[in-house]
Amino acid sequence: MAPACSAVPHLGARRVRHPAEPGPPRARAAEAAEHVTRGEAVIASRDDTLAHTLAHIEQYAVEDATLTSARRTGQRAESSPISAAGGAALRFLAASIGARAVVEVGTGCGSSGIWLLRGMRAESVLTSVDIEPEYQELARAAYRDAGFPANRVRLILGRGLHVLPRLTDAAYDMVFVDAETAAYPAYLAEALRLLRTGGIVVFNNALEAATSSDGPLSAPEPGTAAVREAARLVRDDEELVPLLLPVGEGLLAAIREEAPRD
Ligand SMILES: C[S@@+](CC[C@H](N)C(=O)[O-])C[C@H]1O[C@@H](n2cnc3c(N)ncnc32)[C@H](O)[C@@H]1O
Repeated sequence: MAPACSAVPHLGARRVRHPAEPGPPRARAAEAAEHVTRGEAVIASRDDTLAHTLAHIEQYAVEDATLTSARRTGQRAESSPISAAGGAALRFLAASIGARAVVEVGTGCGSSGIWLLRGMRAESVLTSVDIEPEYQELARAAYRDAGFPANRVRLILGRGLHVLPRLTDAAYDMVFVDAETAAYPAYLAEALRLLRTGGIVVFNNALEAATSSDGPLSAPEPGTAAVREAARLVRDDEELVPLLLPVGEGLLAAIREEAPRD
């Protein structure tokens, strides 16, 4: 019968080190290396899963030929059109509150506007602001191609922070900001003035606030810092119901409530 404790070192006589007890330096280095490798593998597999999940979400949102054409025009003009999933979320949010009056900052070539108009009520009006007249002309053509009569869209040429203060207080159901990230906190203040109770503010590029987008010295870019600040302000405001949606470039959304909930 085999002895209870083998004399063969690697079978039974080896003293088992407690996991918390440090091993010899070379073994420790090997363990550390293995730990890092395993950690990287776990992160890599998560990244892979995340990429697949995000791709699935993008593909779930169906663009028709008009939206695809508007998005491609925007890509050619380098106006960074919203992704299909981001657009579908805008349409969903506009439809969920029966939006009749929506303000958009950053018309681009019309992609987000078409998604918004498709969620808004019949005979509602989208007010869209941009500093580029060429983009707005392309957007106007895109809205027409999508079947929206000219009186459904009010295009205003100018800087968002110059135009928004001229719009009527509490007269809008939704404000969508897709321009000038460095000014997001200022746009939030304007949006809260423009929104009726129950209205929704939405910011695009919200995932820019993620820490991985910090610069080489770990100091965030001004745009990134402003997106973070807007996200913090939205989350800390007791009169807002916040939500961060990981679609497209990320949407930071909030419902404007009258008073804090219990
Ligand atoms: C990301 S693109 C908008 C894309 C558009 N929402 C779409 O989905 O097609 C940003 C737009 O903001 C405009 N823009 C930049 N700074 C602005 C400002 N201060 N006020 C208004 N528009 C501005 C740019 O001309 C550009 O068209």
